[in-house]
Amino acid sequence: MTILSDNGVFNNNKGSQSKKNPIIKPENIEYDKTFENSIRPKTFESYIGQSALKETLKITIEAAKLREKPLDHMLFYGPPGLGKTTIAGVIAANMGVDIKITSAPALERPRDIIGILMSLKGGEILFIDEIHRLNKVAEEILYPAMEDFTLDMTTGKSQTAKTLRVPLPKFTLIGATTKAGELSGPLRDRFGIIHRLEFYTTEELAKVIERTAEILDIKITKDGAIAIAKRSRGTPRIANRLIKRVSDFALVKYNGTIDENIANESLDMLKIDEFGLDTTDRALLSLIIDKYDGGPVGIETIAAALSEDVRTIEDVCEPYLLQAGLLQRTPRGRKVSPEGYRHLGQKLPSEQTKLF
Ligand code: ADE
Repeated sequence: MTILSDNGVFNNNKGSQSKKNPIIKPENIEYDKTFENSIRPKTFESYIGQSALKETLKITIEAAKLREKPLDHMLFYGPPGLGKTTIAGVIAANMGVDIKITSAPALERPRDIIGILMSLKGGEILFIDEIHRLNKVAEEILYPAMEDFTLDMTTGKSQTAKTLRVPLPKFTLIGATTKAGELSGPLRDRFGIIHRLEFYTTEELAKVIERTAEILDIKITKDGAIAIAKRSRGTPRIANRLIKRVSDFALVKYNGTIDENIANESLDMLKIDEFGLDTTDRALLSLIIDKYDGGPVGIETIAAALSEDVRTIEDVCEPYLLQAGLLQRTPRGRKVSPEGYRHLGQKLPSEQTKLF
């Protein structure tokens, strides 16, 4: 697997990427990509969850192999941490082709995208993360590349300008985004397969945790895995991060084996509650309840009051709060749901005693 950094240098996926890439994605803050790469499943059998997507992909791959053609371009969307990059790696391994990984903010100049396209070999997969952030020029270079496998390059100025059509090898583009709605129509239309990744069930996450524990030589009971899974917000990236924290706790305070009690005790200490909410999530709900009577209130106001970035709130906190039914999105802003009030142990406005 090749990871392309922002300056177009190919990295070998061994950790230099984070130092070179100035763009810190909110979902990656404090997250070690090297660790994530080391535990990524490489086959459909070891990739847990997303069963509908896996079944569709297996058929698509089989058909492409029978036809001896590259795969259709694919778009995966959904909240961060659900395995969009991982599934792209599994697809590449299954097809027996290389994958080049980059992200839209690293493709700022036309020569960035041109350079990558020209470096591709037949059948290879190009993975572009955060594809909704691609600029107009890069998008327009991609259209003929995706559709006809050509690069349309203009040389010279105004009247003397000539368009040069450069053939490209047949490749597959896999785009990933947390915001499918922000993709332009023409770009979206060029993907043959568009699939949403779903949050994982507790059982699926417990299996992810047990698999990771085995790779990292961490001892954990079934109930210990379930306890961590319940607080992982349906997200394998979070489950894998928590298992490391809980295992540190188990090692230092106990005999090293994670059971249900140890898992719960250490997650309580990390201030991750039984819904998987952390201090920022709870601060967000409390803010709307205490300062804005439960809402609706605009996202910019919330972000400013919490001293957080709007994107972090939108991409990291909100998807799970919405899915868990604790928060509601309305045209006038965000509102805390009755479940959100109950989760924080607060009375709904209608339940509060009126003094006058
Ligand atoms: N680690 C992260 N995501 C995973 C998944 N879907 N299956 C197995 N291990 C994982």
